[in-house]
Amino acid sequence: MCRSQKPNRFDQTQTTRYLMVSIIPQPLHVEPGEGHVPVGALEVHAVGLDGAAPWLADLAASVLSGLDGVTATHDDPAAVAVPAADGERTALVLRVDGAAGPEGSTSPERYSLVVDAAGVTATAPEPAGLLHAVQTLRQLVVAPGEGAPARVPHVVVHDAPRYPWRGLSVDVARTFFGLDALRAVVDVAAAYKLNVLHLHLTDDQGWRIESPSRPELAKLSSGGDTSGGTGGHLSLADFRALQDHAAERFVRVVPEIDVPGHINAATHVYGDLMPDGVPTDAYHGIEVGFSRLTFDLPATEPFLRDVFTDLARATDGEHVHLGGDEVLKMEPAEYARFVELCERLILEAGKKPVAWQEAAKAPLRPGTLVQYWDTHPMDLTYLVDAARAGARVIMSPANRVYLDMKYTADFPLGQEWAGLVEVRDAYDWEPEQVVPGLPAESIEGVEAAVWTERIPTLDALFTMLLPRLSAVAEVAWTAPDRKDWDDYRRRVAREAHAWRRTGTPFHPSVQVDW
Ligand code: ACM
Repeated sequence: MCRSQKPNRFDQTQTTRYLMVSIIPQPLHVEPGEGHVPVGALEVHAVGLDGAAPWLADLAASVLSGLDGVTATHDDPAAVAVPAADGERTALVLRVDGAAGPEGSTSPERYSLVVDAAGVTATAPEPAGLLHAVQTLRQLVVAPGEGAPARVPHVVVHDAPRYPWRGLSVDVARTFFGLDALRAVVDVAAAYKLNVLHLHLTDDQGWRIESPSRPELAKLSSGGDTSGGTGGHLSLADFRALQDHAAERFVRVVPEIDVPGHINAATHVYGDLMPDGVPTDAYHGIEVGFSRLTFDLPATEPFLRDVFTDLARATDGEHVHLGGDEVLKMEPAEYARFVELCERLILEAGKKPVAWQEAAKAPLRPGTLVQYWDTHPMDLTYLVDAARAGARVIMSPANRVYLDMKYTADFPLGQEWAGLVEVRDAYDWEPEQVVPGLPAESIEGVEAAVWTERIPTLDALFTMLLPRLSAVAEVAWTAPDRKDWDDYRRRVAREAHAWRRTGTPFHPSVQVDW
Protein backbone atom coordinates (compact mmCIF):
# COMPACT_ATOMS: atom_id res chain seq x y z
CA MET A 1 0.00 0.00 0.00
CA CYS A 2 1.32 3.42 -0.94
CA ARG A 3 1.25 5.90 1.92
CA SER A 4 2.13 9.58 1.79
CA GLN A 5 4.83 10.63 4.21
CA LYS A 6 2.61 13.05 6.10
CA PRO A 7 -0.63 11.25 6.84
CA ASN A 8 -3.89 13.07 6.85
CA ARG A 9 -4.86 13.89 10.44
CA PHE A 10 -8.04 11.87 10.10
CA ASP A 11 -6.50 8.86 8.41
CA GLN A 12 -8.16 5.95 10.20
CA THR A 13 -5.19 3.66 9.66
CA GLN A 14 -2.85 6.12 11.27
CA THR A 15 -5.20 6.52 14.21
CA THR A 16 -5.22 2.77 14.58
CA ARG A 17 -1.46 2.63 14.50
CA TYR A 18 -1.19 5.42 17.04
CA LEU A 19 -3.50 3.73 19.48
CA MET A 20 -2.28 0.24 19.27
CA VAL A 21 1.24 0.93 20.43
CA SER A 22 0.07 2.57 23.64
CA ILE A 23 1.02 -0.39 25.76
CA ILE A 24 3.18 -0.12 28.89
CA PRO A 25 5.50 -1.95 29.17
CA GLN A 26 6.21 -1.97 25.45
CA PRO A 27 5.79 -5.53 24.11
CA LEU A 28 8.46 -7.40 22.22
CA HIS A 29 6.50 -7.77 19.00
CA VAL A 30 3.43 -5.81 17.86
CA GLU A 31 1.95 -6.23 14.39
CA PRO A 32 -0.78 -3.71 13.62
CA GLY A 33 -3.73 -4.81 11.50
CA GLU A 34 -6.58 -2.89 9.87
CA GLY A 35 -9.97 -2.46 11.49
CA HIS A 36 -11.43 -2.93 14.94
CA VAL A 37 -13.58 -5.31 16.92
CA PRO A 38 -16.28 -3.88 19.19
CA VAL A 39 -15.84 -4.77 22.86
CA GLY A 40 -18.86 -3.04 24.41
CA ALA A 41 -20.16 -6.51 25.30
CA LEU A 42 -17.29 -8.90 25.87
CA GLU A 43 -17.66 -12.52 26.89
CA VAL A 44 -14.63 -14.18 28.45
CA HIS A 45 -14.07 -17.90 27.86
CA ALA A 46 -11.23 -19.66 29.67
CA VAL A 47 -10.16 -22.80 27.82
CA GLY A 48 -7.79 -25.49 29.06
CA LEU A 49 -7.07 -23.99 32.46
CA ASP A 50 -8.04 -27.29 34.09
CA GLY A 51 -8.87 -25.63 37.35
CA ALA A 52 -5.35 -24.17 37.63
CA ALA A 53 -6.60 -20.61 37.91
CA PRO A 54 -10.37 -20.77 38.28
CA TRP A 55 -10.53 -17.08 39.12
CA LEU A 56 -8.82 -15.95 35.93
CA ALA A 57 -11.86 -15.48 33.72
CA ASP A 58 -13.59 -13.61 36.51
CA LEU A 59 -10.57 -11.40 37.09
CA ALA A 60 -10.23 -10.73 33.35
CA ALA A 61 -13.90 -9.76 33.20
CA SER A 62 -13.52 -7.44 36.16
CA VAL A 63 -10.32 -5.76 34.83
CA LEU A 64 -12.01 -5.12 31.48
CA SER A 65 -15.38 -4.11 32.91
CA GLY A 66 -13.61 -1.26 34.66
CA LEU A 67 -13.11 0.38 31.25
CA ASP A 68 -15.31 3.05 29.76
CA GLY A 69 -18.09 1.48 27.68
CA VAL A 70 -17.08 -2.15 28.30
CA THR A 71 -19.19 -4.79 29.99
CA ALA A 72 -17.42 -8.11 30.30
CA THR A 73 -18.94 -11.33 31.57
CA HIS A 74 -17.55 -14.82 31.72
CA ASP A 75 -18.97 -18.24 31.14
CA ASP A 76 -18.60 -21.35 33.27
CA PRO A 77 -14.84 -21.92 33.66
CA ALA A 78 -15.49 -25.66 33.26
CA ALA A 79 -16.95 -25.18 29.76
CA VAL A 80 -14.91 -26.99 27.12
CA ALA A 81 -16.07 -25.26 23.97
CA VAL A 82 -16.39 -21.63 23.04
CA PRO A 83 -19.95 -20.81 21.98
CA ALA A 84 -20.31 -19.47 18.47
CA ALA A 85 -20.34 -15.68 18.23
CA ASP A 86 -23.89 -14.40 18.45
CA GLY A 87 -23.26 -11.12 16.72
CA GLU A 88 -23.95 -9.08 19.82
CA ARG A 89 -21.07 -10.06 21.98
CA THR A 90 -17.38 -10.38 21.20
CA ALA A 91 -15.55 -13.40 22.53
CA LEU A 92 -12.33 -13.07 24.51
CA VAL A 93 -10.81 -16.53 24.58
CA LEU A 94 -8.12 -17.26 27.18
CA ARG A 95 -6.38 -20.46 26.19
CA VAL A 96 -3.42 -22.32 27.66
CA ASP A 97 -1.07 -23.12 24.80
CA GLY A 98 2.59 -24.07 25.14
CA ALA A 99 3.33 -22.72 21.65
CA ALA A 100 2.27 -19.16 22.53
CA GLY A 101 4.61 -16.18 22.75
CA PRO A 102 7.53 -14.88 20.74
CA GLU A 103 9.57 -17.41 18.82
CA GLY A 104 12.41 -18.78 20.89
CA SER A 105 11.15 -17.40 24.21
CA THR A 106 11.14 -19.86 27.08
CA SER A 107 9.75 -17.43 29.66
CA PRO A 108 6.87 -19.02 31.58
CA GLU A 109 5.21 -15.58 31.45
CA ARG A 110 5.17 -15.25 27.66
CA TYR A 111 1.90 -14.73 25.83
CA SER A 112 0.29 -13.95 22.51
CA LEU A 113 -2.75 -11.78 21.85
CA VAL A 114 -4.59 -11.79 18.55
CA VAL A 115 -7.40 -9.37 17.78
CA ASP A 116 -9.09 -9.93 14.44
CA ALA A 117 -12.54 -10.17 12.89
CA ALA A 118 -13.17 -13.40 14.84
CA GLY A 119 -12.69 -11.69 18.21
CA VAL A 120 -9.91 -11.64 20.75
CA THR A 121 -7.71 -14.62 21.61
CA ALA A 122 -5.08 -14.70 24.32
CA THR A 123 -2.77 -17.70 24.56
CA ALA A 124 0.02 -18.49 27.01
CA PRO A 125 1.72 -21.57 28.42
CA GLU A 126 0.82 -20.54 31.98
CA PRO A 127 -2.08 -18.58 33.49
CA ALA A 128 0.27 -15.69 34.39
CA GLY A 129 0.82 -14.99 30.69
CA LEU A 130 -2.94 -14.93 30.12
CA LEU A 131 -3.32 -12.19 32.71
CA HIS A 132 -0.48 -10.26 31.06
CA ALA A 133 -2.40 -10.56 27.78
CA VAL A 134 -5.52 -9.19 29.49
CA GLN A 135 -3.51 -6.22 30.82
CA THR A 136 -2.25 -5.58 27.29
CA LEU A 137 -5.80 -5.82 25.95
CA ARG A 138 -6.96 -3.37 28.63
CA GLN A 139 -4.55 -0.79 27.25
CA LEU A 140 -5.68 -1.36 23.67
CA VAL A 141 -9.34 -0.56 24.29
CA VAL A 142 -10.47 2.64 22.62
CA ALA A 143 -13.19 4.38 24.64
CA PRO A 144 -16.58 4.83 22.94
CA GLY A 145 -17.03 8.06 21.04
CA GLU A 146 -18.71 9.68 18.03
CA GLY A 147 -21.30 6.92 17.75
CA ALA A 148 -18.73 4.13 17.91
CA PRO A 149 -18.77 1.63 20.77
CA ALA A 150 -15.70 0.74 22.80
CA ARG A 151 -13.41 -1.14 20.45
CA VAL A 152 -10.00 -2.71 20.03
CA PRO A 153 -7.86 -2.37 16.92
CA HIS A 154 -6.85 -5.52 15.08
CA VAL A 155 -3.39 -6.50 16.23
CA VAL A 156 -1.08 -9.42 16.87
CA VAL A 157 1.15 -9.22 19.95
CA HIS A 158 3.82 -11.75 20.91
CA ASP A 159 5.40 -10.78 24.17
CA ALA A 160 7.72 -11.96 26.93
CA PRO A 161 9.59 -10.25 29.77
CA ARG A 162 13.27 -9.40 29.73
CA TYR A 163 13.75 -10.28 33.42
CA PRO A 164 12.02 -12.89 35.60
CA TRP A 165 12.10 -10.64 38.74
CA ARG A 166 10.12 -7.43 38.33
CA GLY A 167 9.34 -6.00 41.69
CA LEU A 168 8.20 -3.21 43.92
CA SER A 169 9.37 -2.93 47.52
CA VAL A 170 7.07 -1.11 49.93
CA ASP A 171 8.20 0.10 53.35
CA VAL A 172 5.28 -0.47 55.72
CA ALA A 173 7.52 0.04 58.77
CA ARG A 174 8.11 3.81 58.63
CA THR A 175 4.51 4.57 57.69
CA PHE A 176 2.11 1.69 58.06
CA PHE A 177 -0.04 0.71 55.08
CA GLY A 178 -2.55 -2.06 55.77
CA LEU A 179 -4.27 -4.79 53.81
CA ASP A 180 -6.58 -2.66 51.65
CA ALA A 181 -3.81 -0.26 50.68
CA LEU A 182 -1.48 -3.10 49.81
CA ARG A 183 -4.15 -4.80 47.72
CA ALA A 184 -4.43 -1.58 45.72
CA VAL A 185 -0.64 -1.51 45.34
CA VAL A 186 -0.69 -5.12 44.05
CA ASP A 187 -3.33 -4.17 41.49
CA VAL A 188 -1.27 -1.32 40.09
CA ALA A 189 1.89 -3.46 40.06
CA ALA A 190 0.08 -6.24 38.17
CA ALA A 191 -1.33 -3.69 35.72
CA TYR A 192 2.27 -3.08 34.57
CA LYS A 193 3.19 -6.78 34.63
CA LEU A 194 5.29 -6.65 37.81
CA ASN A 195 5.42 -9.97 39.65
CA VAL A 196 7.03 -9.30 43.06
CA LEU A 197 5.76 -7.33 46.04
CA HIS A 198 8.61 -7.01 48.54
CA LEU A 199 7.40 -5.86 51.96
CA HIS A 200 9.82 -4.11 54.30
CA LEU A 201 8.00 -5.24 57.44
CA THR A 202 10.30 -4.19 60.26
CA ASP A 203 12.53 -1.25 61.03
CA ASP A 204 13.51 1.03 63.91
CA GLN A 205 10.06 2.62 63.88
CA GLY A 206 7.80 -0.43 63.93
CA TRP A 207 7.31 -4.20 63.79
CA ARG A 208 4.48 -4.57 61.26
CA ILE A 209 3.87 -8.33 61.11
CA GLU A 210 2.40 -10.71 63.65
CA SER A 211 5.12 -13.13 64.81
CA PRO A 212 3.28 -15.95 66.65
CA SER A 213 6.23 -17.05 68.75
CA ARG A 214 6.97 -13.42 69.68
CA PRO A 215 3.53 -11.79 70.01
CA GLU A 216 5.00 -8.91 72.06
CA LEU A 217 6.72 -7.52 68.96
CA ALA A 218 3.60 -6.40 67.10
CA LYS A 219 1.75 -5.74 70.35
CA LEU A 220 4.31 -3.38 71.85
CA SER A 221 6.17 -2.07 68.84
CA SER A 222 3.68 -1.30 66.09
CA GLY A 223 2.03 1.85 67.42
CA GLY A 224 2.86 5.12 65.71
CA ASP A 225 4.92 5.88 62.62
CA THR A 226 7.06 8.61 61.08
CA SER A 227 3.97 10.32 59.68
CA GLY A 228 2.41 10.91 63.11
CA GLY A 229 -0.15 8.20 62.37
CA THR A 230 -1.38 5.49 64.69
CA GLY A 231 0.72 2.80 63.00
CA GLY A 232 -0.49 -0.79 63.00
CA HIS A 233 0.61 -4.17 61.78
CA LEU A 234 -0.47 -7.00 59.50
CA SER A 235 -2.02 -9.91 61.34
CA LEU A 236 -1.26 -13.33 59.91
CA ALA A 237 -4.82 -13.32 58.54
CA ASP A 238 -4.05 -10.01 56.75
CA PHE A 239 -0.82 -11.45 55.39
CA ARG A 240 -2.70 -14.55 54.20
CA ALA A 241 -5.34 -12.41 52.49
CA LEU A 242 -2.69 -10.22 50.87
CA GLN A 243 -0.80 -13.21 49.51
CA ASP A 244 -4.02 -14.67 48.13
CA HIS A 245 -4.90 -11.40 46.41
CA ALA A 246 -1.37 -11.14 45.03
CA ALA A 247 -1.27 -14.78 43.90
CA GLU A 248 -4.45 -14.32 41.87
CA ARG A 249 -2.55 -11.59 40.02
CA PHE A 250 0.59 -13.77 39.77
CA VAL A 251 2.46 -11.46 42.13
CA ARG A 252 4.55 -13.19 44.81
CA VAL A 253 5.14 -11.57 48.17
CA VAL A 254 8.72 -11.40 49.46
CA PRO A 255 8.64 -10.39 53.13
CA GLU A 256 11.63 -8.75 54.82
CA ILE A 257 12.72 -8.68 58.45
CA ASP A 258 15.63 -6.25 58.45
CA VAL A 259 18.59 -7.36 60.62
CA PRO A 260 21.08 -6.91 62.21
CA GLY A 261 20.59 -3.13 61.97
CA HIS A 262 17.29 -1.25 61.60
CA ILE A 263 16.18 -3.21 64.66
CA ASN A 264 15.03 -0.72 67.29
CA ALA A 265 11.45 -2.01 67.14
CA ALA A 266 12.75 -5.32 68.55
CA THR A 267 15.28 -3.93 71.06
CA HIS A 268 12.45 -1.71 72.34
CA VAL A 269 10.56 -4.90 73.28
CA TYR A 270 13.38 -7.17 74.45
CA GLY A 271 16.00 -5.73 76.78
CA ASP A 272 17.90 -9.02 76.55
CA LEU A 273 18.81 -8.12 72.95
CA MET A 274 20.86 -5.22 74.39
CA PRO A 275 24.26 -5.63 76.07
CA ASP A 276 23.06 -3.58 79.07
CA GLY A 277 19.77 -5.51 79.28
CA VAL A 278 17.72 -2.31 79.00
CA PRO A 279 15.03 -2.00 76.32
CA THR A 280 15.54 0.96 74.00
CA ASP A 281 13.03 3.80 73.64
CA ALA A 282 10.41 3.72 70.91
CA TYR A 283 11.57 5.71 67.88
CA HIS A 284 9.55 7.50 65.20
CA GLY A 285 12.21 9.73 63.69
CA ILE A 286 13.93 9.16 60.34
CA GLU A 287 17.60 8.65 61.19
CA VAL A 288 19.17 5.35 60.11
CA GLY A 289 22.08 3.21 61.28
CA PHE A 290 21.92 3.71 65.05
CA SER A 291 20.41 0.39 66.14
CA ARG A 292 21.93 -3.08 66.07
CA LEU A 293 21.82 -6.59 67.43
CA THR A 294 24.76 -8.17 69.26
CA PHE A 295 25.76 -11.60 68.03
CA ASP A 296 27.16 -13.05 71.25
CA LEU A 297 24.20 -12.32 73.52
CA PRO A 298 22.31 -15.51 74.48
CA ALA A 299 18.97 -14.04 73.39
CA THR A 300 20.04 -13.12 69.86
CA GLU A 301 19.98 -16.42 67.97
CA PRO A 302 16.69 -17.65 69.53
CA PHE A 303 15.11 -14.32 68.59
CA LEU A 304 16.29 -14.57 64.98
CA ARG A 305 15.28 -18.22 64.74
CA ASP A 306 11.78 -17.46 66.02
CA VAL A 307 11.03 -14.48 63.80
CA PHE A 308 12.48 -15.91 60.58
CA THR A 309 10.82 -19.30 61.16
CA ASP A 310 7.48 -17.64 61.85
CA LEU A 311 7.80 -15.49 58.75
CA ALA A 312 8.86 -18.39 56.53
CA ARG A 313 5.90 -20.45 57.75
CA ALA A 314 3.50 -17.67 56.86
CA THR A 315 5.02 -17.11 53.40
CA ASP A 316 3.83 -18.90 50.26
CA GLY A 317 6.65 -17.73 48.03
CA GLU A 318 10.14 -19.18 47.95
CA HIS A 319 12.02 -16.10 49.20
CA VAL A 320 12.49 -14.36 52.55
CA HIS A 321 14.55 -11.13 52.76
CA LEU A 322 16.93 -10.68 55.69
CA GLY A 323 17.71 -7.00 55.14
CA GLY A 324 21.35 -6.49 56.06
CA ASP A 325 21.62 -2.84 54.99
CA GLU A 326 23.17 0.15 56.73
CA VAL A 327 24.66 -1.60 59.72
CA LEU A 328 26.90 1.31 60.53
CA LYS A 329 28.07 0.30 63.99
CA MET A 330 29.42 -3.22 63.62
CA GLU A 331 32.76 -4.82 62.78
CA PRO A 332 32.77 -6.79 59.50
CA ALA A 333 33.46 -10.12 61.25
CA GLU A 334 30.39 -9.84 63.47
CA TYR A 335 28.29 -8.67 60.50
CA ALA A 336 29.42 -11.72 58.50
CA ARG A 337 28.34 -14.03 61.36
CA PHE A 338 24.87 -12.47 61.23
CA VAL A 339 24.58 -12.93 57.48
CA GLU A 340 25.68 -16.56 57.77
CA LEU A 341 23.23 -17.24 60.60
CA CYS A 342 20.24 -15.59 58.94
CA GLU A 343 20.88 -17.30 55.62
CA ARG A 344 21.01 -20.61 57.51
CA LEU A 345 17.82 -19.93 59.46
CA ILE A 346 15.94 -18.99 56.29
CA LEU A 347 17.22 -22.07 54.46
CA GLU A 348 16.34 -24.31 57.42
CA ALA A 349 12.84 -22.85 57.28
CA GLY A 350 12.63 -23.92 53.63
CA LYS A 351 13.07 -20.57 51.89
CA LYS A 352 15.75 -18.87 49.81
CA PRO A 353 17.44 -15.78 51.32
CA VAL A 354 17.50 -12.33 49.74
CA ALA A 355 19.65 -9.54 51.21
CA TRP A 356 20.57 -5.94 50.49
CA GLN A 357 23.90 -5.45 48.72
CA GLU A 358 26.00 -5.05 51.89
CA ALA A 359 25.53 -8.76 52.60
CA ALA A 360 27.78 -9.51 49.62
CA LYS A 361 30.70 -8.23 51.72
CA ALA A 362 30.28 -11.43 53.73
CA PRO A 363 30.83 -14.88 52.23
CA LEU A 364 27.40 -15.76 50.80
CA ARG A 365 25.87 -19.16 50.27
CA PRO A 366 25.17 -20.06 46.64
CA GLY A 367 21.60 -19.14 45.82
CA THR A 368 21.30 -16.05 48.03
CA LEU A 369 19.93 -13.14 46.00
CA VAL A 370 21.63 -9.78 46.45
CA GLN A 371 19.77 -6.50 46.00
CA TYR A 372 21.89 -3.58 44.76
CA TRP A 373 20.61 -0.19 45.93
CA ASP A 374 23.27 2.29 47.08
CA THR A 375 24.25 4.69 44.29
CA HIS A 376 26.61 6.79 46.37
CA PRO A 377 30.11 6.63 44.81
CA MET A 378 31.87 3.56 46.25
CA ASP A 379 34.01 0.59 45.41
CA LEU A 380 31.65 -2.21 44.37
CA THR A 381 34.31 -4.85 43.79
CA TYR A 382 32.74 -7.01 46.53
CA LEU A 383 29.41 -7.05 44.67
CA VAL A 384 31.00 -7.82 41.30
CA ASP A 385 33.05 -10.60 42.89
CA ALA A 386 29.96 -12.10 44.52
CA ALA A 387 28.14 -12.03 41.18
CA ARG A 388 31.12 -13.60 39.42
CA ALA A 389 31.03 -16.32 42.08
CA GLY A 390 27.41 -17.03 41.18
CA ALA A 391 25.22 -14.64 43.22
CA ARG A 392 22.11 -13.39 41.39
CA VAL A 393 21.53 -9.64 41.61
CA ILE A 394 18.35 -7.57 41.75
CA MET A 395 18.90 -4.04 40.47
CA SER A 396 17.36 -1.28 42.60
CA PRO A 397 19.62 1.73 41.99
CA ALA A 398 18.35 4.39 44.37
CA ASN A 399 18.90 7.29 41.97
CA ARG A 400 16.61 5.58 39.40
CA VAL A 401 14.04 3.45 41.18
CA TYR A 402 13.68 4.76 44.73
CA LEU A 403 10.25 6.18 44.12
CA ASP A 404 10.21 8.05 47.41
CA MET A 405 12.80 10.42 45.97
CA LYS A 406 11.26 13.77 45.06
CA TYR A 407 10.47 14.42 41.39
CA THR A 408 11.73 18.00 41.69
CA ALA A 409 13.45 19.97 44.45
CA ASP A 410 10.22 21.68 45.48
CA PHE A 411 8.10 18.50 45.51
CA PRO A 412 6.23 18.34 48.83
CA LEU A 413 6.54 14.58 49.39
CA GLY A 414 9.50 12.28 49.77
CA GLN A 415 13.21 12.77 50.29
CA GLU A 416 16.21 13.53 48.09
CA TRP A 417 19.24 11.86 49.63
CA ALA A 418 19.75 9.77 46.47
CA GLY A 419 18.98 12.72 44.18
CA LEU A 420 15.85 13.86 42.39
CA VAL A 421 14.13 11.15 40.35
CA GLU A 422 12.04 12.62 37.55
CA VAL A 423 10.05 10.32 35.28
CA ARG A 424 12.82 10.24 32.70
CA ASP A 425 15.38 9.24 35.35
CA ALA A 426 13.18 6.28 36.30
CA TYR A 427 12.79 5.34 32.61
CA ASP A 428 16.06 6.06 30.87
CA TRP A 429 18.60 3.67 32.35
CA GLU A 430 20.07 0.31 31.50
CA PRO A 431 20.41 -2.32 34.25
CA GLU A 432 23.54 -3.80 32.69
CA GLN A 433 25.36 -0.49 32.80
CA VAL A 434 24.79 0.52 36.42
CA VAL A 435 27.57 -1.46 38.15
CA PRO A 436 30.77 -1.58 36.06
CA GLY A 437 32.01 -5.14 35.68
CA LEU A 438 28.81 -6.81 36.89
CA PRO A 439 28.16 -9.79 34.58
CA ALA A 440 24.95 -9.14 32.65
CA GLU A 441 23.89 -12.75 33.13
CA SER A 442 23.94 -12.32 36.94
CA ILE A 443 21.03 -9.87 36.81
CA GLU A 444 17.83 -11.52 37.99
CA GLY A 445 15.71 -8.45 37.57
CA VAL A 446 14.74 -4.94 38.56
CA GLU A 447 12.87 -3.77 41.63
CA ALA A 448 11.54 -0.31 42.45
CA ALA A 449 11.31 0.70 46.10
CA VAL A 450 9.22 3.19 48.00
CA TRP A 451 10.39 4.12 51.49
CA THR A 452 7.78 5.89 53.52
CA GLU A 453 9.45 8.26 55.98
CA ARG A 454 7.86 11.20 54.19
CA ILE A 455 4.83 9.55 52.58
CA PRO A 456 1.93 9.89 55.02
CA THR A 457 -1.11 8.67 53.05
CA LEU A 458 -2.20 6.26 50.34
CA ASP A 459 -2.81 9.19 47.98
CA ALA A 460 0.75 10.34 48.61
CA LEU A 461 2.03 6.81 48.00
CA PHE A 462 0.30 6.60 44.62
CA THR A 463 1.48 10.09 43.70
CA MET A 464 5.03 8.85 44.19
CA LEU A 465 4.42 5.56 42.38
CA LEU A 466 2.70 6.91 39.29
CA PRO A 467 3.81 7.45 36.65
CA ARG A 468 7.31 6.31 37.67
CA LEU A 469 6.36 2.72 38.49
CA SER A 470 5.20 2.24 34.90
CA ALA A 471 8.58 3.57 33.72
CA VAL A 472 10.51 1.10 35.91
CA ALA A 473 8.18 -1.69 34.77
CA GLU A 474 9.24 -0.99 31.18
CA VAL A 475 12.93 -1.18 32.20
CA ALA A 476 12.24 -4.57 33.78
CA TRP A 477 10.06 -6.02 31.00
CA THR A 478 11.08 -4.52 27.69
CA ALA A 479 14.13 -5.35 25.59
CA PRO A 480 16.42 -2.28 25.45
CA ASP A 481 16.07 -1.91 21.67
CA ARG A 482 12.28 -1.62 22.10
CA LYS A 483 12.50 1.21 24.65
CA ASP A 484 12.14 4.82 23.60
CA TRP A 485 11.63 7.79 25.93
CA ASP A 486 9.60 9.90 23.47
CA ASP A 487 7.34 7.01 22.67
CA TYR A 488 6.91 6.17 26.38
CA ARG A 489 5.95 9.81 27.06
CA ARG A 490 3.15 9.50 24.55
CA ARG A 491 1.99 6.15 25.87
CA VAL A 492 2.03 7.22 29.49
CA ALA A 493 -0.08 10.27 28.68
CA ARG A 494 -2.71 7.92 27.28
CA GLU A 495 -2.46 5.67 30.32
CA ALA A 496 -3.23 8.69 32.50
CA HIS A 497 -6.81 8.67 31.13
CA ALA A 498 -7.33 5.44 33.06
CA TRP A 499 -5.82 6.94 36.23
CA ARG A 500 -8.04 10.01 35.95
CA ARG A 501 -11.15 7.98 35.31
CA THR A 502 -10.54 5.73 38.30
CA GLY A 503 -9.42 8.58 40.56
CA THR A 504 -5.97 7.06 40.94
CA PRO A 505 -3.54 9.75 42.14
CA PHE A 506 -0.46 10.38 39.98
CA HIS A 507 2.05 13.17 39.53
CA PRO A 508 1.52 15.10 36.27
CA SER A 509 5.24 15.63 35.70
CA VAL A 510 6.22 18.50 33.39
CA GLN A 511 8.19 15.96 31.35
CA VAL A 512 4.98 14.55 29.83
CA ASP A 513 2.30 16.30 27.74
CA TRP A 514 -0.71 15.09 29.67
C1 ACM B 1 18.26 0.89 51.79
O1 ACM B 1 17.81 1.80 51.07
N1 ACM B 1 18.78 1.15 52.96
C2 ACM B 1 18.18 -0.49 51.35
